[in-house]
Amino acid sequence: MEQKKSFYVTTPIYYVTAKPHLGSLYTTLLADVIARWNKLSGNDVFFLTGTDEHGQKIAQAAAAVHKDPKDFVDSFIPDYKHAWQMYDIQYDKFIRTTDEYHVKGAQKFTTVLMDKGYVYKSIYEGWYCTSCETFVEEIKPGDQRVEGPQCSSCGRDTHIVSEETYFFKLSAFTDKLLTFYKENPDFIVPKERAHEVINFVESGLKDLSISRTTVKWGIPFPNDPHHVLYVWVDALSNYITGVGYGQPNKVDEFHKRWPANVHLLGKDIVRFHAIFWPAFLMAADLPLPKQLLVHGWIKVDKQKMSKSLGNVVDPIELQKKYGTDPIRYYLLRQISINQDGDFSIADVENRIESDLANDLGNLLNRMLVLAEKYELFDVAPCITWSPASLELRDEGWNAIGDFSQHMNDFMFHHALSSLWKFISNTNAYFHGQEPWKVAKTDINLFKEIISATCHSLRTIALLLWPVMPQKMEELLHSLGVEFKLEDHTLENLELNSWNKHFMLKKSPTLFEKPLREVEEVTMSQANVTAHVEEKNYITIDDVVKVELLTGTIEVCTDVAGSDKLVQMTVDLGEHGKRIILAGIKKSYAPSELVGKRGLFIANLKPRKMAGTESQGMMLVAEDANGKVQLVQFPDSVANGVRLR
Ligand code: MSP
Repeated sequence: MEQKKSFYVTTPIYYVTAKPHLGSLYTTLLADVIARWNKLSGNDVFFLTGTDEHGQKIAQAAAAVHKDPKDFVDSFIPDYKHAWQMYDIQYDKFIRTTDEYHVKGAQKFTTVLMDKGYVYKSIYEGWYCTSCETFVEEIKPGDQRVEGPQCSSCGRDTHIVSEETYFFKLSAFTDKLLTFYKENPDFIVPKERAHEVINFVESGLKDLSISRTTVKWGIPFPNDPHHVLYVWVDALSNYITGVGYGQPNKVDEFHKRWPANVHLLGKDIVRFHAIFWPAFLMAADLPLPKQLLVHGWIKVDKQKMSKSLGNVVDPIELQKKYGTDPIRYYLLRQISINQDGDFSIADVENRIESDLANDLGNLLNRMLVLAEKYELFDVAPCITWSPASLELRDEGWNAIGDFSQHMNDFMFHHALSSLWKFISNTNAYFHGQEPWKVAKTDINLFKEIISATCHSLRTIALLLWPVMPQKMEELLHSLGVEFKLEDHTLENLELNSWNKHFMLKKSPTLFEKPLREVEEVTMSQANVTAHVEEKNYITIDDVVKVELLTGTIEVCTDVAGSDKLVQMTVDLGEHGKRIILAGIKKSYAPSELVGKRGLFIANLKPRKMAGTESQGMMLVAEDANGKVQLVQFPDSVANGVRLR
């Protein structure tokens, strides 16, 4: 049997001064999606995450609450493990830098650097940023400054450090590193990040202090316990100690796993991973990791999330409100990995409602409801398919190719948006074929439409499994497919020749529409019901507050840049004319709406959508086929009449 290819992926190890926040979740989630995608691709995956528990930053945080540092870090570990469990993060190992095997491994690694002649003892005088655990600037002879420069990474004040230290001869690696970057242009992804690193190295590297005597909370320096190991040497070596480095009984494991295929990291810690870490490994004669995948920051109100700014988003609260997979999807779909992204509840709710509940969940639901109505449960594949079905099958194959390409390039948001095109093709196929009519006239064609839709949904679910594992397993279950990794690798999917049998099952709604914290453009029947059930009854006083008027759409056009909105000029009789925007473009071309009559909320506070102000809201209801229908009333009722 062919040996599976080893694939080793890591996250940074997190400083444990608090519970995990959305930023830590984001990095860990990316690693989980990469790990699962590689499992789906048939690789033998190892996924390492953990916590960075030594150093001045942790020691100070523990002292501030009068705790022993070890007790302090211990108290947060269950929060990390719980959060990762809540988000279905399937790591293989959780490393803590206070673990005995890591301490020994990091000491061995340092000893090797010394044995190879790359370490010497001297005096270091310079500025230090405790928050980033980094040396900021050396003090030049004659420098009289009392105040240090601000840290270029976090902007905080630095303080002076003057002590005996062991130096690592980083300066010896300037040329070697530059040659390495040149020969491995894909080492740093995305490429823009590589330029910063190369510029920095080109400006010349200074030797690096790798021990501290004024900090006690750390790994004792080999043969000189008066010093502790600089926390970044300690931390970076987790990537090798986590797969057996320094453990005599794990030599094979280490050789099997190292070098790592991908280190995940945020843009703030590129220098440590792209310069220091490769230099240490070169010095120790160990192979270098194959790729560094650098992501941007998740911001809230345009600022990086941080405890001190008080804008931290708690992933557990989000999970409780919106569920595991919807948040996994949102983070991967909304945020471009190569840029900073703004977190917003409105976006979370829009994504869940529009992409998950409407586009994907409704497609499954409509197909299941219709099949059940005609008692079709055992869905056989067709011998010959109609041209429309064959076209859908080809689109499915293209979708697999496009999605895979983007996933392999780590461009998750592109992967998902390309897959959503296929979901929309499948929706268009289902609508266009009008199976609810065909069922009455041509039962064989009806079965074909259901089978083609099931084949497409199967493709969609398998591709989406790394992003939404639970929900996609549920989706497959409702098609009668039990998800087993060994049966459902990408290779099998690519060979998929639309020859599957499906056994349809009655299933609960796949994605619930969120109870909105943020107001919506259109409100479906289901949503109105949900609101009433959840929020208890309203009184007549509440009802009369809403000014509901009849009107006629006089003009209707597209809204540039939006694939959902149309802009209407509505005649509200004696109340005048209004510009109203509605998210109904999927159901109507603008020209179809001209002359149609509808019901409008006239006293809704005007708000901007896609750059245009909407001065009201049209009421609509979604039918069983997912088409939005306008509210009807007799022609004898004039425009501008208030409903009561
Ligand atoms: N302990 C070091 C890493 C050592 S790895 C050998 C560290 N820890 S950290 O907890 O401060 O950050 C860990 C990771 O979380 C970093 O990659 C960082 O970029 C990421 N994030 C922290 N806040 C973030 C956001 N607001 N958004 C996205 N990721 C961010 O650095």
